[in-house]
Amino acid sequence: MEFTTIGTIGAGAPARAVAAHAAKAGYPVLLSNSRGPQTLEAAVTAVGPGATAATFEQAAAADLVLVAVPFINVPAVGERLDDWSGRVVVDMTNQFAEANPYRGFADVSPLTGTEWVAQHFPGATVIKAFNAMFSTFIAPDPRHEEGSQVVFFAGDDTEAKAAFARWGEGLGFAPVDLGSLRDGGALMQLGGALNGKHFIQQG
Ligand SMILES: NC(=O)c1ccc[n+]([C@@H]2O[C@H](COP(=O)([O-])OP(=O)(O)OC[C@H]3O[C@@H](n4cnc5c(N)ncnc54)[C@H](OP(=O)(O)O)[C@@H]3O)[C@@H](O)[C@H]2O)c1
Repeated sequence: MEFTTIGTIGAGAPARAVAAHAAKAGYPVLLSNSRGPQTLEAAVTAVGPGATAATFEQAAAADLVLVAVPFINVPAVGERLDDWSGRVVVDMTNQFAEANPYRGFADVSPLTGTEWVAQHFPGATVIKAFNAMFSTFIAPDPRHEEGSQVVFFAGDDTEAKAAFARWGEGLGFAPVDLGSLRDGGALMQLGGALNGKHFIQQG
C-alpha cells in the first residue's frame, strides 16, 4: 500500500500543517471544509504549491484522508458517505465536548475516542495520528539538528500502519507506533499520558 493523494476534511491549522509537509514532499493535497472550495483560498495559500481547494467528495476520495474537524462533528462527516472503503482515514481529532472554544470531554467510554470515530467511517481503515500535539509543533520542519519530530500513531491494520509510517518518514517525521486503536488510542487521546506532548527522536 502506498498513498498517492492526500485529502483533508477540515482545513484549520492542524490540517494545514500536515498538508504542507505532504505538499512539500510532492503529494497532491486536496483541502476541504464545511463551507466549500470558494472559502479555501487562504488555506491553499498557506499550504503552498501542490494544494488545491476541493469539495468534500473530492477530498474524501483521496487514498489518505486526514479528518481534522471538531470531534462532535465526526458523525456528520462520516455519514456523508455510505462506504469509506478503499482509503485510510487519519483521525486527528481530540474528543472535546464542545468546539469554538474547544472544551470539556466527550466521554464515549468504554470506547476510546478513535474507536468511536472509526465507527463513523464504515469500511475505512482508521489510523489515529497528529492529534496529540499543537499545530504549532506540527508545522515546523520536523527534521531538527538533534533528530526528528515524533508523530505517534495507532491503528489495527498492520499494512496500513506500515504505509503510514513510510509516508510519515518521507515527510521528515519519526513515526512511533503505539499499538491498537484501543491501547495506543488511549495513550494519545485527551487525558492520555502522551496527549499534549511533543518528542524528538534523537539521531
Ligand atoms: N489546533 C490544534 O493545535 C490541533 C492539533 C491537533 C489536532 N487538533 C484537532 O483537530 C481538529 C480540528 O481542529 P482545528 O483547530 O482545525 O479546529 P477549527 O479551527 O475549528 O477548524 C475546524 C475545521 O473543520 C471544518 N469542519 C467542521 N465541521 C465540518 C464538517 N461537518 N464537514 C467538513 N468540515 C468541517 C471547518 O470548516 P469550516 O470552517 O468551513 O466550518 C474547519 O476547516 C479538532 O478535533 C482538534 O481537536 C487540533
